[in-house]
Amino acid sequence: MIEFFARKVLQALPAELAHDLAIKALGSPLSIFAKTKQIQNPVTLMGITFPNPVGLAAGFDKNGDAIRGLSKQGFGFLEIGTITPQPQAGNDKPRLFRLDADEAIINRMGFNNKGIEYLVKQVKNSNYKGILGINIGKNKITPNEKAVDDYVHCFEKAHSLCDYITVNISSPNTPDLRALQNDQALTDLLTGIRAKQLECEQKSNQYTPTLVKISPDQNQQQLEFMVNQIKTLGFDGIICTNTTVDRPEELISDTSTVQQMGGLSGKPLFNKSNETLTLVRKFAGKNFPIIAVGGIMDRKDALTKFVLGADLIQVYSGFVLKGPALIKDINNQLISENTRKL
Ligand SMILES: Cc1cc2nc3c(=O)[nH]c(=O)nc-3n(C[C@H](O)[C@H](O)[C@H](O)COP(=O)(O)O)c2cc1C
Repeated sequence: MIEFFARKVLQALPAELAHDLAIKALGSPLSIFAKTKQIQNPVTLMGITFPNPVGLAAGFDKNGDAIRGLSKQGFGFLEIGTITPQPQAGNDKPRLFRLDADEAIINRMGFNNKGIEYLVKQVKNSNYKGILGINIGKNKITPNEKAVDDYVHCFEKAHSLCDYITVNISSPNTPDLRALQNDQALTDLLTGIRAKQLECEQKSNQYTPTLVKISPDQNQQQLEFMVNQIKTLGFDGIICTNTTVDRPEELISDTSTVQQMGGLSGKPLFNKSNETLTLVRKFAGKNFPIIAVGGIMDRKDALTKFVLGADLIQVYSGFVLKGPALIKDINNQLISENTRKL
């Protein structure tokens, strides 16, 4: 009940202010009182046992400030970041827009974050024992030819503190970042990160599975190339997908909001993200790990992702717009589906 009213109050505030207040509340010691039961529905993937297959997507807690409270929302795993080597302010405000009538969000945050050193401290102080992913990126001022330096820097700092690393090259809000998904730029970047992953394994005797997060705005040919490179170079999985720069015709929010630059997420992303997921599963083959994210707003959407080939799922917009009840609801549905199939 309190959670319901708190969410109504937050929804009445400007989007980024509401987000910042939510992060503060989730990071405060009081957050231990808001406990949603974590449903046990274990899935083992990449050698990791996830207590349930529903995770929090990257970008909600970029700096690891709210791990304490987020660990009590019922998720099977948390992904924090995107984090870059140096702190950076991100784009000018306003840069976050709620499209309530469309159950959607547009953002052009631009990797605003406090830098990897800060995140490392937050993770260590959190004492979090659950499954953690750290999503890494490059600073805006780093040119693409030097991007690999930023990614391996973050990899080295983060790999021993988490269960998996995500390489984010699909945000639409850092100029030219998505160009790293193509051709030689992709091959060079992934080769460098893979070498660092193996070097870290040798030094620490700990292998950290590494996934690549991709955009839903690529054509079939680009996707096939990308999936082949990710697999051939030895990466452990794909996160499918980030936000889209498309604006589907069905959007009904006012035009000035719909036309804001940035990535669209939530309900209107669902179909597009699913088209990408279907192709990625086809190109990757049956057993390659895929975490699906994009437009999951209810239990039915979650089931669709699994039918299309997901091994795990993540939510962002659905969690913001519907609250932690969504996580519980999806897990209950998955358990009853599994029981029905037995
Ligand atoms: C405000 C906002 C910030 C985001 N920041 C990041 C980010 O830093 N890194 C990242 O990989 N994805 C980021 N995302 C994308 C989400 O992780 C997710 O891929 C996308 O929103 C689609 O899922 P959804 O429809 O459940 O929101 C962000 C999304 C939103 C709405």
